[in-house]
Order: sequence, then structure tokens, then C-alpha cells
Amino acid sequence: MIEVRKNDELRAYLNHMRRDNRRLALVPTMGNLHSGHRRLFEEARRQADLVVASIYVNPLQFGANEDFGAYPRTPVDDREVLLASGVDLLYLPDEAAIYPRGLSAQTRVEVPGLSDVLCGAHRPGHFRGVTTVVNRLFNLIAPDVALFGKKDYQQWMLIRLMVADLGMPVEIIGIDTVRERDGLALSSRNSYLSPNEREAAPALYRTLNELRERVRAGTPLAEAQAQATTALSEAGFRPDYVSVRRAEDLEPPRAGDRALVALAAAWLGRTRLIDNVEFDRPV
Ligand code: PAJ
Repeated sequence: MIEVRKNDELRAYLNHMRRDNRRLALVPTMGNLHSGHRRLFEEARRQADLVVASIYVNPLQFGANEDFGAYPRTPVDDREVLLASGVDLLYLPDEAAIYPRGLSAQTRVEVPGLSDVLCGAHRPGHFRGVTTVVNRLFNLIAPDVALFGKKDYQQWMLIRLMVADLGMPVEIIGIDTVRERDGLALSSRNSYLSPNEREAAPALYRTLNELRERVRAGTPLAEAQAQATTALSEAGFRPDYVSVRRAEDLEPPRAGDRALVALAAAWLGRTRLIDNVEFDRPV
């Protein structure tokens, strides 16, 4: 596996590796790699001749009081995962490689509307930071295909909207959420949980499944969402939101919409967890 930090080196390697029109996949990450990321690399391997992974903890997507400083950085373990996953090139930029004129001077990319609801309403500026850095990575690497986890459902949808709006020649693939045996979605932030919190954490996925069943059984959305919010509070969470939306655009469901997704974000102590469950409502 080749490791590059500088953009001129990156360009030189990519030019060489892409001879004969080889198809290139990109998996952007913030490191602290786990089996969820691993699934993305595996699918990238199937989709393309060359797999590039990036590791960059992007300051632009963290709020002033969020966990940018505490975010787990585990470069030695990450290298093992990347090698075992058959990644060809690891891009490990520093801030100057991503934001050459500095954070505040950086041109932003923002998808209006969807960036400001659900997680966006609770983390102002977060998704603008995400779309800005992913746009930058797409321009530096020019992948044919890029892979994102549906664990971050709203992020995945915003990337697809950005690519469509800007006419970017990259295919976006969404990968199903990888979970622990007890249902907890794998996340780098799970390492913040105390043993007691870790025990309580699977209630998030359980609650979303119960919400799905209620909605499928015909309970009105507002009532089912309120029940789920109460269930999360009783399990020790402080919910930011619980919401059932249309799977295709995250708009509030209208009568007759079948493909839905139940999404939630909730705090356990100092850790913010998110999860979602896609489902069909019977007509
Ligand atoms: P990060 O949290 O490192 O996640 C990198 C990718 O792995 C994302 O597409 C995320 O959705 C996916 N992923 C995380 N946990 C997963 C799980 N349990 N199952 C399946 N996929 C999972 O998301 C980011 O980084 C950043 O916002 C980034 C897109 C890199 C931009 O900075």
C-alpha cells in the first residue's frame, strides 16, 4: 500500500496508477477504522481496479464545542485494517493539503435545505463541512465511484445531491450499516461509552425497530415518534430527534409514500449516537 500526504505526490501516483483507464474507487474516512469501514473497502474492491482510502479528521465539520480534539486517532491500527482490506493507496493529508488558504478562507460547498434539518438542525454547519471536504477530495482524487455508509443516511443523501447538483462525474454507492451482535451500529464514537452506557446503547436500534413496527401497524407517525422518544429517554438517552421520513429524499412522508426511514440521534452521557432503519409501509 502506498501512503501519500502531499497533493503533488498524490497526483503523480494517481496519474501512474490510472493508466489504461483503470476504474478508481474512493472511500473517505476519518480513521479509527472498524468493520463498518472495512465493509466499504471490500465493496470498493469489487467495484473498481484501484481503491484509494483517505483518512482526515476534518475540523470544518466539527462544531466549536464538539469532539474534534478527542476524536480517536489510531494510525497504527488503521494501517493494519487498510492492508488487510487490499487498499492500494492511503491519502493522509494535513490541514494545508486540504485547506491551502486556511479554514476560514476555504470556499464552502453547501446543499441548502436538507443540510439544516435532522442532524443539521442540531449541528449547525456540520454538513457544510462534510460536503466541502468531500468535494475537495473528489477534485483531488477524481474517483469513478465513491462509497459511503448508510449509517450516516443524511450524509449519504447530501453527497448524492451535491454530486447531482454540481454534475460531478462520480457514482455514489451506499452501504448497509454494520452492527455489533446486540444491534449497536459500529461507530468510532462508541469508544467514548462507559461500560454502563455501552450496555444501554443497543436500545437505540431496538427503539427504531419498534417504531418501524408501530408505523407498519398503522400507528399515526406523530404518536409513534413520541412513543419512541419516550422509550429512548426511559433507556437513559437524551434524544435530539426521532423522525420517520421518506427514504428517497428525507421529506416528511405523505399519504401513499411507502419507502420510509426512521432516524434518530440521541445522547448517552457525553456521546452522541445516531442510527436509522429503512422499511416499507404496507399500502
Ligand atoms: P467516518 O465516520 O470515518 O465514516 C467513514 C465512512 O464509513 C462513512 O461513509 C460512514 O457512513 C461509514 N460508516 C461508519 N460506520 C459505519 C457502519 N457501522 N456501517 C457502515 N458504514 C459505516 O463519515 C465520515 O467519516 C466523514 O463525515 C467523511 C465522509 C469522511 C467526511 O469527513
